[in-house]
Amino acid sequence: MVLEKINSRKNDDLSKRIDKNKLPEHIAIIMDGNGRWATRRGLPRSFGHKRGVSVLKEILRTSKDLGCKVLTVYAFSTENWARPTKEVEYLINLFNVVLRNEIEELHQESIKIKFIGDLTPFPDSLKNIIYSSESLTKNNSSFLFNICVNYGGRQEIVKVAKELALKSFSGEINPSEVNEELFNSELLTQGIKDPELLIRTSGEKRISNFLLWQLAYSEIYISDVLWPDFNKFEFLKAIIDYQSRDRRFGGIESLSNESFEDSQYSS
Ligand code: IPE
Ligand code: IPE
Ligand code: MG
Repeated sequence: MVLEKINSRKNDDLSKRIDKNKLPEHIAIIMDGNGRWATRRGLPRSFGHKRGVSVLKEILRTSKDLGCKVLTVYAFSTENWARPTKEVEYLINLFNVVLRNEIEELHQESIKIKFIGDLTPFPDSLKNIIYSSESLTKNNSSFLFNICVNYGGRQEIVKVAKELALKSFSGEINPSEVNEELFNSELLTQGIKDPELLIRTSGEKRISNFLLWQLAYSEIYISDVLWPDFNKFEFLKAIIDYQSRDRRFGGIESLSNESFEDSQYSS
């Protein structure tokens, strides 16, 4: 109880430092470290995955309450099939159970839910709950929650290339028309703005095949905290850090043309 009060005070203090006018609208998260969290406690890895779900619920609510518009999380990569069958089955079952338990509440909160990835290999029971959840929430407009399952950035880019090649071949488009806009329109994230902020937990400094196209200019925040220990406080820290960045997009923010001409490099 005392600890809860302290934590809530800490969160309030941090919340006050957030500039509501500079919020990232779209945040992407690589939720990593579930297995290590459990192993360090002498528990099976599944305990880490289970606890990770509660963390996700907290972060989803926090981002929505703050005023962000989109949260995209990496829940299962195309490479995760390489894990032991038992772990893969556990995860598939967990997605199934959690979705069944949470969908009503998400809908009540006007959250639209979208699954990104190739659903083909999943069992029908999971596919059915995914389709019905997407259809139930399709008109919700207060927040978009994307869950990437059996998702790989390279596979997505190959899929787009194939789609555009087929359209060119059939004459639907002219190959010379292919540009970034057209490419974007074939992505699984079509219609969703790119994430301004990518958070990866557990200290790993790699993208692991996540949103390769979409992250071209995202700010990256690496947290050393393992996902099951991640919380509102750590999330707010990531946003404050993001707000301190100078997003230049290849330009030069701080150096004006005039000061450039004055410099030793001018002719
Ligand atoms: C992330 O945690 C969850 C999934 C990939 C499904 P991990 O399971 O990768 O946990 P670590 O990285 O082994 O600790
Ligand atoms: C990335 O984490 C995938 C998800 C979080 C779903 P991994 O644990 O699978 O990535 P690597 O193996 O560390 O690159
Ligand atoms: Mg991992």
